Amino acid sequence: MPDDAVLRSAMPLAAARPAAPLSGAITVPGDKSISHRALMLGALAVGRTEIRGLLEGEDVLATAAALRAMGADITRQADGHWQVDGVGLGGLAEPANVIDLGNSGTAARLLLGILATHPFTAFVSGDASLRSRPMRRVIDPLSRFGAHFLCREGGRLPLAVTGAADPVPQIYRLPVPSAQVKSAVLLAGLNTPGETTVIEPQPTRDHTERMLGHFGARVRIDPDSDGGRRITVEGYPELIAAPITVPGDPSSAAFPLVAALIVPGSDVTIANVGLNPTRAGLIASLREMGADITLQKQRTEGGEPVADLHVRAGSLKGADIPPERAPSMIDEYPILAVAAACAKGRTVMRGLAELRVKESDRLAAIATGLAACGVRVDVQGDDLIVEGSGNFPAGGARVATQLDHRIAMAFLVLGLAANQPVAIDDSRPIATSFPDFVPLMNRLGAQFTQEG
Ligand code: S3P
Repeated sequence: MPDDAVLRSAMPLAAARPAAPLSGAITVPGDKSISHRALMLGALAVGRTEIRGLLEGEDVLATAAALRAMGADITRQADGHWQVDGVGLGGLAEPANVIDLGNSGTAARLLLGILATHPFTAFVSGDASLRSRPMRRVIDPLSRFGAHFLCREGGRLPLAVTGAADPVPQIYRLPVPSAQVKSAVLLAGLNTPGETTVIEPQPTRDHTERMLGHFGARVRIDPDSDGGRRITVEGYPELIAAPITVPGDPSSAAFPLVAALIVPGSDVTIANVGLNPTRAGLIASLREMGADITLQKQRTEGGEPVADLHVRAGSLKGADIPPERAPSMIDEYPILAVAAACAKGRTVMRGLAELRVKESDRLAAIATGLAACGVRVDVQGDDLIVEGSGNFPAGGARVATQLDHRIAMAFLVLGLAANQPVAIDDSRPIATSFPDFVPLMNRLGAQFTQEG
């Protein structure tokens, strides 16, 4: 759809403080990061991969369509149950048309990693948000393998990539803590002779490493001399189809979780939430703020730690969230800032430079939205400072979601604890990661209504 048509068909939505507490038990959709990777590795493996619990959000559907366009046979069997008949490593074929990855940075960066060592030319684009995001962070390391890129100024999409016919393995130190960049390099290393190593100074989500091992690749993790980790993948592994069970997405669970904390009297259970330690920063932060969150039925499913979260509302206090925690909760700052707005005292969230290059400039979007809702907020360098009064925020604002699903959901949750309703100008971006967010929240007792 052209950008002006997108704006014309926006779907505003408003959230008001509910008359009664939120209560009930829910499950959230499958993990977005794991869902993308399951489709990609399934497509590169030999045999049929059965995936259960796949997130059927627009981002993941874009990955499925892209892999289909390059020859993988991907079919939906039932809700969340998908089958992928892989083409085998190196077996993807040139796509006949531009690959449109919609809003998904993960799809774009990880697929560019795969494409970098497939010797054909592909054209990649996305929506206005994705076309504004930096791709240089993957173009640089992937060019070293021998891939050629032609892109817009600033390393933006649309771009063309011609994969290397004789790729050269790499040792690459991540200049930014990014699981997408790490994964792009490791995926390029699969169809490359020898060993490819990524050095990450700070741990980022490790789903790619875990899943590569699950499909039979040889992956080694060694400590780096300066405290980080060296992740090495051996080239040309025999990737064998393997069943995947996708846990609930902790980044989606974050929204009902914080809603239950800030609507007085609430008592909510969120079942089957992934608790990979590289993703668990939000729970640690909320507990430091005094949140009552209990982990029940802790278990391992499909190689990932999982638990049910039991959440009870209570008063929160401000906290100082250190920069080294950012990679383990990088997608959770919009909703943490909402919790901070309802807490008593100052919350300082440090080291958030990466928030500027997400689906929107989230640092600016959070600050602008909170200020419009009457919350005292400041951005100092890369730090976000929220002064919570301990009372309900004023609300009464209309927030621009800027094609950003997490900004949309975070401000709807704020509306549940504000004195005046909070509206968002467009709820459609929510479908990228959490298609049933609105009905699911309304089932818990939220009041999200179409505006107008
Ligand atoms: C993701 C990594 C993170 C995260 C994104 C998903 C992934 O991005 O924000 O939503 O699946 O690897 P960065 O790698 O840019 O930090």
